[in-house]
Amino acid sequence: MKQRVSEAYRLLHPRPVVLICAGEKPNVMACSWITPVSDEPFMVAVAIWKENYTFKLIEEKGEFTVNVPQPELLEAVWTAGTKSGKDVDKIEICNLKIRRAKNVNAYVIEDCVANLECVVKERVFAGEHVVYIAEVVDAYAEGFEKIWKRKILLHLGGRDFVTFGEPFRPKN
Ligand SMILES: Cc1cc2nc3c(=O)[nH]c(=O)nc-3n(C[C@H](O)[C@H](O)[C@H](O)COP(=O)(O)O)c2cc1C
Repeated sequence: MKQRVSEAYRLLHPRPVVLICAGEKPNVMACSWITPVSDEPFMVAVAIWKENYTFKLIEEKGEFTVNVPQPELLEAVWTAGTKSGKDVDKIEICNLKIRRAKNVNAYVIEDCVANLECVVKERVFAGEHVVYIAEVVDAYAEGFEKIWKRKILLHLGGRDFVTFGEPFRPKN
């Protein structure tokens, strides 16, 4: 018999974790509630808790970057997801290499395997989160082969992570 679960969001995990970078003085936060929502134009939806410093930064500029980490960046991801830019400079304490994005007023994280530059088009208030629908105006990665074959850092919820390695395809 099925039982009622308390942290029901975990039923929709594991999910890929990304690092959201926003702000003129850049800040980084971990985010696993992100999904593609349109291919043409390419758009993503990102759920940001209203108490996060990142919420304030995205409200100010309407632009941010999505940076895809490999599992080796787990410690930085955990720091980015458990400390606030209100209190500490996470870019510095995580020793992350950054540079200005090409098309948006934000920074990208060079240590990550892929970077997506995003411009907010709409926002929806959803409980304690705000869902930003953003157009990806530019995206780049360290070679498609590499990104396709990489191990992905997935968040199970809480302190739990998992990674899957070997890609496979359906036969038909
Ligand atoms: C793996 C992981 C995933 C997270 N996903 C989200 C998310 O999707 N949305 C969100 O608002 N916060 C998420 N968080 C929490 C924020 O990263 C956390 O509140 C962070 O301290 C916010 O930083 P900031 O105040 O500098 O913006 C996540 C945390 C972790 C560890």
